[in-house]
Amino acid sequence: MNNFNDELHTITLSDDGSYTAYSKEYGEHYHSTKDGALHESLVKHVYPSFAIKQNQEEITILDICFGLGFNTLATLYYHKKNNLTSKINIYSPELDSSLVNSLNDFTYPKEFDAFKEIIEILIEKGVYSDEYFYIEIFIGDAREYIKRFENKFDIVYQDAFSPASNPILWTQEYFKDIKKLIKNDGILTTYSIALAIRLALYENDFNIYIHSAEGIRKSTLASLASLEGLELVNMEHKIACNPDASSLRD
Ligand SMILES: C[S@@+](CC[C@H](N)C(=O)[O-])C[C@H]1O[C@@H](n2cnc3c(N)ncnc32)[C@H](O)[C@@H]1O
Repeated sequence: MNNFNDELHTITLSDDGSYTAYSKEYGEHYHSTKDGALHESLVKHVYPSFAIKQNQEEITILDICFGLGFNTLATLYYHKKNNLTSKINIYSPELDSSLVNSLNDFTYPKEFDAFKEIIEILIEKGVYSDEYFYIEIFIGDAREYIKRFENKFDIVYQDAFSPASNPILWTQEYFKDIKKLIKNDGILTTYSIALAIRLALYENDFNIYIHSAEGIRKSTLASLASLEGLELVNMEHKIACNPDASSLRD
Protein backbone atom coordinates (compact mmCIF):
# COMPACT_ATOMS: atom_id res chain seq x y z
CA MET A 1 0.00 0.00 0.00
CA ASN A 2 1.52 3.35 -0.86
CA ASN A 3 0.91 6.72 0.80
CA PHE A 4 2.98 8.59 -1.73
CA ASN A 5 0.22 10.59 -3.44
CA ASP A 6 -0.05 14.20 -2.23
CA GLU A 7 -1.26 17.52 -3.70
CA LEU A 8 1.79 17.78 -6.03
CA HIS A 9 2.60 14.14 -6.90
CA THR A 10 0.67 11.07 -7.91
CA ILE A 11 2.08 7.60 -8.40
CA THR A 12 1.75 5.97 -11.86
CA LEU A 13 2.44 2.43 -13.06
CA SER A 14 4.86 2.44 -16.01
CA ASP A 15 5.02 -0.13 -18.80
CA ASP A 16 7.91 -2.19 -17.36
CA GLY A 17 5.90 -2.79 -14.16
CA SER A 18 7.81 -0.25 -12.06
CA TYR A 19 6.07 2.79 -10.61
CA THR A 20 7.00 6.36 -11.42
CA ALA A 21 5.27 9.58 -10.37
CA TYR A 22 3.51 12.47 -12.08
CA SER A 23 4.36 16.03 -11.06
CA LYS A 24 1.36 18.34 -11.08
CA GLU A 25 3.77 21.30 -10.79
CA TYR A 26 5.68 20.44 -14.01
CA GLY A 27 2.82 18.59 -15.74
CA GLU A 28 5.11 15.63 -16.47
CA HIS A 29 5.99 12.16 -15.32
CA TYR A 30 9.38 11.59 -13.68
CA HIS A 31 10.11 8.89 -16.26
CA SER A 32 8.81 7.80 -19.62
CA THR A 33 5.78 5.65 -18.76
CA LYS A 34 6.25 3.86 -22.08
CA ASP A 35 9.94 3.01 -21.62
CA GLY A 36 9.33 2.17 -17.94
CA ALA A 37 10.95 3.89 -14.95
CA LEU A 38 13.52 1.22 -14.02
CA HIS A 39 14.16 0.23 -17.63
CA GLU A 40 14.72 3.86 -18.65
CA SER A 41 17.21 4.48 -15.82
CA LEU A 42 19.18 1.36 -16.64
CA VAL A 43 19.10 1.54 -20.43
CA LYS A 44 19.45 5.28 -21.03
CA HIS A 45 21.82 6.14 -18.20
CA VAL A 46 23.48 3.29 -16.29
CA TYR A 47 24.28 0.72 -19.02
CA PRO A 48 25.81 3.12 -21.56
CA SER A 49 27.87 4.88 -18.87
CA PHE A 50 29.12 1.73 -17.21
CA ALA A 51 29.87 0.07 -20.54
CA ILE A 52 32.61 2.69 -20.80
CA LYS A 53 33.55 3.36 -17.16
CA GLN A 54 32.99 0.20 -15.13
CA ASN A 55 36.62 -0.89 -14.98
CA GLN A 56 37.68 2.32 -13.28
CA GLU A 57 38.64 1.95 -9.61
CA GLU A 58 36.63 5.00 -8.66
CA ILE A 59 33.65 6.46 -10.55
CA THR A 60 32.19 9.85 -9.66
CA ILE A 61 28.68 10.65 -10.89
CA LEU A 62 26.56 13.80 -11.00
CA ASP A 63 22.88 12.79 -10.97
CA ILE A 64 20.79 15.72 -12.28
CA CYS A 65 18.36 15.62 -10.47
CA PHE A 66 17.59 13.11 -7.68
CA GLY A 67 13.77 13.06 -8.09
CA LEU A 68 12.60 9.59 -7.03
CA GLY A 69 16.23 8.46 -6.98
CA PHE A 70 15.96 5.87 -9.77
CA ASN A 71 19.24 6.74 -11.49
CA THR A 72 21.17 6.58 -8.22
CA LEU A 73 19.44 3.37 -7.09
CA ALA A 74 19.78 1.74 -10.53
CA THR A 75 23.52 2.50 -10.33
CA LEU A 76 23.75 0.71 -6.96
CA TYR A 77 21.69 -2.17 -8.34
CA TYR A 78 23.98 -2.52 -11.39
CA HIS A 79 27.10 -2.38 -9.19
CA LYS A 80 25.77 -5.10 -6.87
CA LYS A 81 24.39 -7.32 -9.64
CA ASN A 82 27.70 -7.30 -11.49
CA ASN A 83 29.86 -7.65 -8.37
CA LEU A 84 31.79 -4.53 -9.27
CA THR A 85 34.51 -3.42 -6.88
CA SER A 86 34.74 0.19 -8.06
CA LYS A 87 34.15 2.90 -5.49
CA ILE A 88 31.10 4.91 -6.59
CA ASN A 89 30.55 8.54 -5.55
CA ILE A 90 27.19 10.08 -6.43
CA TYR A 91 26.33 13.75 -6.02
CA SER A 92 22.72 14.68 -6.67
CA PRO A 93 20.92 18.01 -6.31
CA GLU A 94 17.15 18.17 -5.83
CA LEU A 95 15.00 21.25 -5.37
CA ASP A 96 11.96 19.46 -3.95
CA SER A 97 12.65 18.64 -0.30
CA SER A 98 9.10 17.40 0.34
CA LEU A 99 9.50 14.86 -2.47
CA VAL A 100 12.74 13.52 -0.98
CA ASN A 101 11.15 13.38 2.48
CA SER A 102 8.26 11.29 1.15
CA LEU A 103 10.38 8.65 -0.60
CA ASN A 104 9.95 6.14 2.26
CA ASP A 105 6.35 5.89 1.07
CA PHE A 106 7.21 5.32 -2.59
CA THR A 107 6.70 1.83 -4.02
CA TYR A 108 10.08 0.97 -5.59
CA PRO A 109 10.69 -2.07 -7.81
CA LYS A 110 11.91 -5.21 -6.04
CA GLU A 111 15.32 -4.67 -7.66
CA PHE A 112 15.80 -1.85 -5.13
CA ASP A 113 14.81 -3.90 -2.05
CA ALA A 114 18.42 -4.14 -0.89
CA PHE A 115 18.71 -0.35 -0.75
CA LYS A 116 15.79 0.50 1.59
CA GLU A 117 18.13 1.38 4.43
CA ILE A 118 20.23 3.57 2.14
CA ILE A 119 17.10 5.49 1.11
CA GLU A 120 16.14 5.95 4.77
CA ILE A 121 19.60 7.28 5.66
CA LEU A 122 19.63 9.60 2.65
CA ILE A 123 16.24 11.04 3.65
CA GLU A 124 17.36 11.52 7.23
CA LYS A 125 20.92 12.75 6.75
CA GLY A 126 21.30 13.69 3.08
CA VAL A 127 24.50 11.62 2.94
CA TYR A 128 25.22 7.88 2.86
CA SER A 129 28.61 6.27 2.91
CA ASP A 130 30.00 2.71 3.10
CA GLU A 131 32.91 0.71 1.65
CA TYR A 132 31.66 1.07 -1.95
CA PHE A 133 29.35 4.07 -2.04
CA TYR A 134 29.36 7.71 -1.15
CA ILE A 135 26.01 9.38 -1.95
CA GLU A 136 25.11 12.98 -1.29
CA ILE A 137 21.75 14.66 -1.94
CA PHE A 138 21.88 18.45 -2.03
CA ILE A 139 18.53 20.06 -1.33
CA GLY A 140 18.53 23.22 -3.42
CA ASP A 141 19.07 24.61 -6.88
CA ALA A 142 21.20 22.48 -9.21
CA ARG A 143 22.43 25.60 -11.05
CA GLU A 144 24.03 26.86 -7.83
CA TYR A 145 25.24 23.43 -6.70
CA ILE A 146 27.14 22.61 -9.89
CA LYS A 147 29.27 25.76 -9.68
CA ARG A 148 31.26 24.28 -6.76
CA PHE A 149 32.87 21.47 -8.83
CA GLU A 150 35.70 21.40 -11.33
CA ASN A 151 37.06 18.51 -13.43
CA LYS A 152 35.49 15.99 -11.05
CA PHE A 153 32.86 13.84 -12.75
CA ASP A 154 33.25 10.69 -14.84
CA ILE A 155 29.51 10.52 -15.56
CA VAL A 156 26.66 13.05 -15.66
CA TYR A 157 23.13 11.68 -15.74
CA GLN A 158 21.26 14.61 -17.33
CA ASP A 159 17.69 13.73 -16.34
CA ALA A 160 15.84 16.98 -15.66
CA PHE A 161 12.21 17.48 -16.63
CA SER A 162 11.80 18.34 -20.31
CA PRO A 163 13.42 21.44 -21.83
CA ALA A 164 9.90 22.84 -22.38
CA SER A 165 8.91 22.65 -18.70
CA ASN A 166 12.33 23.11 -17.01
CA PRO A 167 14.50 25.02 -19.54
CA ILE A 168 16.97 26.34 -16.94
CA LEU A 169 18.63 22.91 -16.75
CA TRP A 170 19.17 22.68 -20.53
CA THR A 171 20.69 25.96 -21.65
CA GLN A 172 24.01 26.69 -23.29
CA GLU A 173 25.08 28.52 -20.09
CA TYR A 174 24.09 25.53 -17.94
CA PHE A 175 26.15 23.17 -20.11
CA LYS A 176 29.08 25.60 -19.85
CA ASP A 177 29.12 24.86 -16.11
CA ILE A 178 28.75 21.13 -16.85
CA LYS A 179 31.77 21.36 -19.16
CA LYS A 180 33.84 22.74 -16.25
CA LEU A 181 32.89 19.97 -13.86
CA ILE A 182 33.06 16.92 -16.17
CA LYS A 183 36.41 15.23 -16.83
CA ASN A 184 37.71 15.39 -20.40
CA ASP A 185 36.85 11.72 -20.94
CA GLY A 186 33.61 11.94 -18.92
CA ILE A 187 30.24 10.91 -20.35
CA LEU A 188 26.91 12.69 -20.21
CA THR A 189 23.75 10.66 -20.78
CA THR A 190 20.35 12.13 -21.53
CA TYR A 191 17.00 11.05 -22.90
CA SER A 192 16.75 14.28 -24.92
CA ILE A 193 17.45 14.03 -28.64
CA ALA A 194 16.25 17.59 -29.36
CA LEU A 195 18.49 19.57 -31.69
CA ALA A 196 18.31 22.64 -29.37
CA ILE A 197 19.81 20.54 -26.56
CA ARG A 198 22.42 18.86 -28.73
CA LEU A 199 23.38 22.36 -29.97
CA ALA A 200 23.76 23.64 -26.39
CA LEU A 201 26.19 20.77 -25.76
CA TYR A 202 27.98 21.08 -29.11
CA GLU A 203 28.53 24.82 -28.60
CA ASN A 204 30.39 23.81 -25.42
CA ASP A 205 32.69 21.47 -27.39
CA PHE A 206 30.90 18.20 -26.61
CA ASN A 207 30.88 15.46 -29.23
CA ILE A 208 27.33 14.18 -29.66
CA TYR A 209 26.54 10.47 -30.04
CA ILE A 210 23.33 8.54 -30.63
CA HIS A 211 22.60 5.82 -28.09
CA SER A 212 20.34 3.04 -29.39
CA ALA A 213 19.15 0.03 -27.46
CA GLU A 214 16.47 -2.55 -28.20
CA GLY A 215 12.93 -1.76 -27.08
CA ILE A 216 13.61 1.84 -26.07
CA ARG A 217 13.67 5.15 -27.89
CA LYS A 218 17.02 6.56 -28.98
CA SER A 219 18.82 8.86 -26.56
CA THR A 220 21.96 11.02 -26.48
CA LEU A 221 25.48 10.47 -25.14
CA ALA A 222 27.94 13.34 -25.09
CA SER A 223 31.62 13.64 -24.25
CA LEU A 224 34.38 16.22 -24.64
CA ALA A 225 36.58 13.32 -25.80
CA SER A 226 36.09 11.22 -28.93
CA LEU A 227 34.43 7.92 -28.04
CA GLU A 228 35.16 4.78 -30.06
CA GLY A 229 32.39 2.51 -31.31
CA LEU A 230 29.52 4.98 -30.94
CA GLU A 231 27.43 6.63 -33.64
CA LEU A 232 28.61 10.24 -33.92
CA VAL A 233 26.02 12.87 -34.85
CA ASN A 234 27.31 15.10 -37.66
CA MET A 235 26.36 18.38 -36.03
CA GLU A 236 27.70 20.57 -38.83
CA HIS A 237 25.38 18.74 -41.22
CA LYS A 238 22.42 19.17 -38.80
CA ILE A 239 23.18 22.88 -38.49
CA ALA A 240 23.38 23.25 -42.30
CA CYS A 241 20.03 21.45 -42.68
CA ASN A 242 18.37 23.47 -39.89
CA PRO A 243 19.72 27.02 -40.27
CA ASP A 244 17.08 28.46 -37.92
CA ALA A 245 17.79 26.05 -35.07
CA SER A 246 19.36 27.49 -31.94
CA SER A 247 20.40 26.32 -28.51
CA LEU A 248 18.37 27.23 -25.43
CA ARG A 249 19.82 30.26 -23.60
CA ASP A 250 19.41 31.53 -20.03
C1 LIG B 1 12.64 14.13 -14.29
S1 LIG B 1 12.82 14.42 -12.58
C2 LIG B 1 14.26 13.47 -12.16
C3 LIG B 1 14.02 11.99 -12.13
C4 LIG B 1 15.11 11.25 -11.41
N1 LIG B 1 16.34 11.26 -12.15
C5 LIG B 1 14.68 9.86 -11.09
O1 LIG B 1 15.27 8.91 -11.62
O2 LIG B 1 13.72 9.66 -10.33
C6 LIG B 1 13.46 16.06 -12.49
C7 LIG B 1 13.73 16.53 -11.07
O3 LIG B 1 14.40 17.80 -11.15
C8 LIG B 1 14.02 18.55 -10.00
N2 LIG B 1 14.39 19.95 -10.28
C9 LIG B 1 13.79 20.83 -11.13
N3 LIG B 1 14.47 22.00 -11.18
C10 LIG B 1 15.52 21.85 -10.35
C11 LIG B 1 16.60 22.70 -9.96
N4 LIG B 1 16.73 23.95 -10.47
N5 LIG B 1 17.50 22.23 -9.08
C12 LIG B 1 17.39 20.98 -8.55
N6 LIG B 1 16.39 20.14 -8.88
C13 LIG B 1 15.47 20.55 -9.76
C14 LIG B 1 12.54 18.28 -9.89
O4 LIG B 1 12.07 18.59 -8.59
C15 LIG B 1 12.49 16.78 -10.23
O5 LIG B 1 12.57 16.02 -9.05
